[in-house]
Amino acid sequence: MDRNKIFEQGVVGGIKVKNKMIRSATFEYAAIDGKPSAKIYERYEALAKGEVGLIITGFVSFSKTDQLADPIVLMQKDSIPSLQRVVDKVHGYGTKIVAQLNHAGSQASVTSQETIYAPSAVKDPATGIVPTPLSTEQVKELVKEFAAAAVIAKEAGFDGVQMHGAHGYLLNKFLSPMYNNRTDEYGGDFSGRSRIVMEIAQEIKRKAGKDYPVWIKLNNSDYHRENLGVTEEEFLALSEELSRIGVDAIEVSGGTITGTYGPSRSKQHTAYHLEAAKRLAEKVEASVILVGGIRDVEMANSILLDTKIAAISLCRALICEPDLIKKWRDGEKTTADCISCNRCFNPLGKCVFKFTKEEKIQYKAMRAEAKEQKKKQLNSAK
Ligand SMILES: Cc1cc2nc3c(=O)[nH]c(=O)nc-3n(C[C@H](O)[C@H](O)[C@H](O)COP(=O)(O)O)c2cc1C
Repeated sequence: MDRNKIFEQGVVGGIKVKNKMIRSATFEYAAIDGKPSAKIYERYEALAKGEVGLIITGFVSFSKTDQLADPIVLMQKDSIPSLQRVVDKVHGYGTKIVAQLNHAGSQASVTSQETIYAPSAVKDPATGIVPTPLSTEQVKELVKEFAAAAVIAKEAGFDGVQMHGAHGYLLNKFLSPMYNNRTDEYGGDFSGRSRIVMEIAQEIKRKAGKDYPVWIKLNNSDYHRENLGVTEEEFLALSEELSRIGVDAIEVSGGTITGTYGPSRSKQHTAYHLEAAKRLAEKVEASVILVGGIRDVEMANSILLDTKIAAISLCRALICEPDLIKKWRDGEKTTADCISCNRCFNPLGKCVFKFTKEEKIQYKAMRAEAKEQKKKQLNSAK
């Protein structure tokens, strides 16, 4: 077996990369005044030093109808110098970087907005929020805001942008018949529900240039009970359309916080979107990237050898070991230390097993406070 397929250079989603190992978007909980903090610089440098081929940033926000408060990085003009420093740092190690553009919709974790917008006024079980539907004009404005954010990302030096179309955030909610009961052109059948995603991709290409790489992360299934959310059939049909209009890469994910499965599953699930990604890769020209439960270098390598999947992305394993790819490349080890316990979903943005003594104390206090806040949020939404 060619053990080095994943370490070969090549082109993924229109971007030249030194290897096929990607860091999947990982929210950092660390912006200050909407700009990357020192913590973010350090983390991204550690990943780049650790030989990650390309980093997808944690989600960044940009729309006036979205949450726009710390600790979220904002893709806006006055952030360009600080974003440029992150990009330059990463490029200095030969690693590429793509900005993930997101609108949280009713999954807003920071409620800086008085009004939380979503496709329709359907209660979000993840937050207890009953959102206000975006007007048709606001949806059209959002399409333009996505493209404007991509232009800013390009100006800051990012190698491309990724639309976040997965995990229960706004674009995923538009696609879902459970959360989209609109009667305008952005609702109805799947072609109506996916219109916003298609328009955004086209508008980014129009404004940032047709050669500027546009990626998207999509759920191959929402994994809601009785298959009520986005189905694999719809995911494949939308992906084919996106690829046809020039979207450069599709990262295959799945699940929502409140679905049967979430996006970040427990240890017994490995490469859990592999079959859907394989089927997609047979159908589209766009590069297909597989995320979810990949913890072993031999497994990653054989996926690239045996299928048309173009690259592998990792999140939690790189929170635990930012230098994992280097260790794999140098043959120091073959499996990741990460046990998929999901305790890295914490405001310190670190693996709990890597906490210092002080961080352990801080984490305990933060958990107690977060519990209290969640209770308040749910009570006020009742
Ligand atoms: C702490 C944390 C933050 C995450 N932040 C994001 C994010 O900003 N955007 C996104 O698309 N996915 C996010 N994810 C999901 C991951 O990118 C990934 O899809 C999922 O964890 C499965 O991959 P893994 O098994 O390699 O962790 C996050 C996951 C974790 C654990």
